[in-house]
Amino acid sequence: MVKAIISPSVLASDFGNLTAECRKMIKGGAEWLHMDVMDGHFVPNITMGAPILSCVHKGIPDIFMDCHMMVAQPEKWVNDIADAGGALYCFHLEATTDPLSLIKAIHDRNMKAGVAISPDTPSTAITNEVGEKADMLLVMTVYPGRGGQKFLDRCVPKVAELRARFPEKDIEVDGGVGPKTIDACADAGSNVIVAGTAIFNAANPETVIQLLKDTVDTAQAKLAIQK
Ligand code: DX5
Ligand code: ZN
Repeated sequence: MVKAIISPSVLASDFGNLTAECRKMIKGGAEWLHMDVMDGHFVPNITMGAPILSCVHKGIPDIFMDCHMMVAQPEKWVNDIADAGGALYCFHLEATTDPLSLIKAIHDRNMKAGVAISPDTPSTAITNEVGEKADMLLVMTVYPGRGGQKFLDRCVPKVAELRARFPEKDIEVDGGVGPKTIDACADAGSNVIVAGTAIFNAANPETVIQLLKDTVDTAQAKLAIQK
């Protein structure tokens, strides 16, 4: 049984107070912080890169930065993100031709490796070998590029397919996830939950974090009984 991990997406935070925003989320019960790195190539927007992550890491040395690399050449940034204190480097399968070498490079820098698939990429694009070598699989439930988009229900079956193939793997969902959409994600078997607007815009972020976590843990317990 995998455990619930909540990873608030800082894309919805006040970037001018990024370290304080991250601290607030950890205090509110978040295990990880989801750092959305966009390069203006893989996606049209530009957000932040290693220099900013490094500042956050200096302020909160034990933070777990779940780095979502929406970048065109993911091979290029492994060392910089590792030096900046990244704990998990999640690249897009669509952005590389050699995922296995990339996973190895990420592991060589002592980071966990994540493999993300965008809405139009089928779960079968993740081969058994890639899935086994990766530490986490990310099923995007919106098109990568910006926060606050509508959750795409049609991506949910991919979570269930991957959970069936990789029963013990961390499986993350990202995009439009919040109290209204968490049931579908949790029942399909995802355990790492990214939420930006649903957490940062809430009057009580800690209540939303707890709700997301409880929903995943309850669903996981149910799935364990069904086995
Ligand atoms: C979208 C990003 C997401 C986004 C999620 O490209 O990868 O992490 O910030 O934001 P919400 O939860 O608002 O959809
Ligand atoms: Zn993301």
